[in-house]
Amino acid sequence: MAVESDWQRALLRELGTDAPSRPALEVNVQASEHEPAAPSPSPVQRPTPVPQGPRKAHEVGVTGPAPQSVPIVDPRLLLALGTGQHGDSLTQRAGAGLRHLAASSGQEVAEQTRLAREVQQPVTTGRVIAVTSIRGGVGKSTVSALLGRTFNHYRHDPVLTLEADAALGTLPTRMGAEAVRWSCSDLARILTPAMQLTDVTGYLVPVADGGWLLPASQGRVGAPLDTRTYRTVTLALRRYFGVTVVDCESLPGEVARTAMDTAHVRVVVAPMTAEGVHASRQVLEWLAQLPNAALESTVVVLNTTSSDASLDPKVAAGHLRLPGVPVVLLPYDRHLAQGGPIRADRLSRATRDAAVQLAAESIRRAVSVR
Ligand SMILES: Nc1ncnc2c1ncn2[C@@H]1O[C@H](COP(=O)(O)OP(=O)(O)O)[C@@H](O)[C@H]1O
Ligand SMILES: [Mg+2]
Repeated sequence: MAVESDWQRALLRELGTDAPSRPALEVNVQASEHEPAAPSPSPVQRPTPVPQGPRKAHEVGVTGPAPQSVPIVDPRLLLALGTGQHGDSLTQRAGAGLRHLAASSGQEVAEQTRLAREVQQPVTTGRVIAVTSIRGGVGKSTVSALLGRTFNHYRHDPVLTLEADAALGTLPTRMGAEAVRWSCSDLARILTPAMQLTDVTGYLVPVADGGWLLPASQGRVGAPLDTRTYRTVTLALRRYFGVTVVDCESLPGEVARTAMDTAHVRVVVAPMTAEGVHASRQVLEWLAQLPNAALESTVVVLNTTSSDASLDPKVAAGHLRLPGVPVVLLPYDRHLAQGGPIRADRLSRATRDAAVQLAAESIRRAVSVR
């Protein structure tokens, strides 16, 4: 743990052109150093979700009024979404049912069990997995939500999905949240080392299938998230959560670069287009220059957001597969294309498999990184 916190401290110093004011940084670095003896529980057991409440702001001495709960999407728009299509067509689902009865399904089940076990691997200290891309609209929030929900489903420790993109992103909607209240900047002011996990979760949005969500904003155009807030919040929150999945803004935004630098694992989402793959390759080459073996702890998701994508996935994946970097193919999924909350039972089989494979590749790197 001492090595861990030294690493974090060195990294913060390295990044610190706009170093945070001493008290804020000190509080959280100390929190990390004293982790074993800290009053808060280590990230091993899920607590029962507690509804978000304003009273704790008063208890911990936050000045100013507590923010109001704000609906994420006008309910009329959600109704207008209709039921939408399943990720797999009816024929595909029938085919999958038949394959399930065939002899080869034994091998498939064994592979799924192996990946699921891998996703469940314990972690000694909270791990941060940051998701970014070279531009917006390529599926960062969708991938973050899939990853967060997969960890929630398989892991027994608390999982946080954190939005670090103030550009009115889609993460809260994708995670099934109906309203948001407290944001990253609120938590940066509120968190103290004395807080218990149950105090902290009072400020987070409980996710339907387990785990918590922290949005970047209240869904209004406002001040962008700054690197100081990002560092304060992630460093403080990783004491409480086994895994934190961060939905970052696009590169080369400052917060995205900080997140890529400080995360234990980086997930680069590349769109299935020639220019998208080309640009994402530049991101990988940039990561290769970073200290802390950034490329060794990177996973690429090659995401097909259009049903008309014509780029050969093998060629695209080959272009992105730098030594030691796995490329997970996320297929076009009609349920994902529809927008709105992601429902596991509406996803195509291939999407669910890709999500588990991505979670397994990420956690494998998260546990092996120093
Ligand atoms: N695998 C996929 N299949 C179909 N549509 C997708 C897929 N991934 C993302 N999308 C769609 O692409 C759009 C952008 O996704 P989003 O996650 O919001 O991107 P970002 O966070 O990078 O801006 C959304 O409309 C989403 O529904
Ligand atoms: Mg987004």
